Amino acid sequence: MKEILPPLLIMEKMVEKLQSYYPSHEHKKEGTIQFNLKHLEKSIDCYIKSDKESLNFFEGTVEKPTVTVKSSFYDWLDLAGGKLNPFFGVVSGKLKFSGDTTFFKVLPRKQLKNRLIVPVDPVTKFERNPTRYWQIPGKVIILNASPRGENGYTEFYLNPFINGMQKHTEVEMVRLNKFKINPCIGCFSCWMDAPGKCVYREKDDHHKLADKMFEADLTVYAFPIYADGMPGILKNYFDRSVSRAYPYMIEGMNRVRHPRRYINHNHSMVVFSICGFFEMINFEPVRAYFKALAHNRHTPVVGEIYRTTAVGLYGNPFTYKFLNRVLLALSDAGEQIILKGKIKKTTLKTITKKIVGKPKDLNKINEWWDEKKGSGDYNY
Ligand SMILES: Cc1cc2nc3c(=O)[nH]c(=O)nc-3n(C[C@H](O)[C@H](O)[C@H](O)COP(=O)(O)O)c2cc1C
Repeated sequence: MKEILPPLLIMEKMVEKLQSYYPSHEHKKEGTIQFNLKHLEKSIDCYIKSDKESLNFFEGTVEKPTVTVKSSFYDWLDLAGGKLNPFFGVVSGKLKFSGDTTFFKVLPRKQLKNRLIVPVDPVTKFERNPTRYWQIPGKVIILNASPRGENGYTEFYLNPFINGMQKHTEVEMVRLNKFKINPCIGCFSCWMDAPGKCVYREKDDHHKLADKMFEADLTVYAFPIYADGMPGILKNYFDRSVSRAYPYMIEGMNRVRHPRRYINHNHSMVVFSICGFFEMINFEPVRAYFKALAHNRHTPVVGEIYRTTAVGLYGNPFTYKFLNRVLLALSDAGEQIILKGKIKKTTLKTITKKIVGKPKDLNKINEWWDEKKGSGDYNY
């Protein structure tokens, strides 16, 4: 279990860091800096001893230090971090020094490495405005992330969308439930020990699948809503994709993100989701998720298709006409997304149209569940 580090350990860590800059420091000198710090009614006494080679940290007090600092622990941290000016610190009584204050020069300043270690992966024009710079994608991959795969309603609603897309480009369907993907265990081995390689690399299918997905210029993430989000198998896939980014931080669009290890500048995505409930608000959590994901994967979302009451619409004689209109609109949406990189508002209106008469429909649906009780019909 993690616990907050005690002040003495924080001081020791600070000295360790300073020591790493000390060998090339121009003001190396012999002497001692004594700290008498207060924190939560307790005294923290420690000192730094310097010589021509190193800085060393000790607990306790030393006789005849070169310079002494008395203050609260926080004020010392503010001074060391450059947030407290030493002159104002003394005038305000926050800091008390005795001895030779010029001796503080023995403490080196943090040095940034000259070597540029951060890979370059800036925001592109396409990412900012994919519709304006749209080119027909050479290849589309649909990731069907329904745990029920080909037996699910996700695939049923996907089919006309795929047919529409196939009129203009190559489309491949990949079913996520056919792949074994372990959940990320958060070890960061893929960033610290074996860059880009997950500890599960040879033990499951993640990297095989991620390489496959990289062939696409447009990816369609298709999934049913599960417990107000995406099914765990898809979240596991995204979590594991951390190994495909570098750990470094770079500026993105108004916020920080990581550079990618594998780059396709024309890559975009479509979110395609269905749910059992009636209202579009049920898609808000995943809509927000994909907005964040799009930024952090440098991959703009060019279309969002959400269909409520996906199960209720199917096989019901009284919604048959309605369902067929939705399926036709999905096919149109498939063509539009490939040709223009966007879906017309009128098309989306038909796809998302609400089934009316909620209380009546609720009764029908409740009846449906009642009939299914004990039926063993898992392929409903
Ligand atoms: C475990 C589970 C959780 C679900 N959670 C929700 C939910 O939070 N909101 C919703 O509207 N529908 C929910 N549903 C309904 C599914 O979105 C709906 O049945 C969908 O058609 C399933 O897709 P599939 O046929 O491809 O499996 C849930 C279904 C399952 C199995």
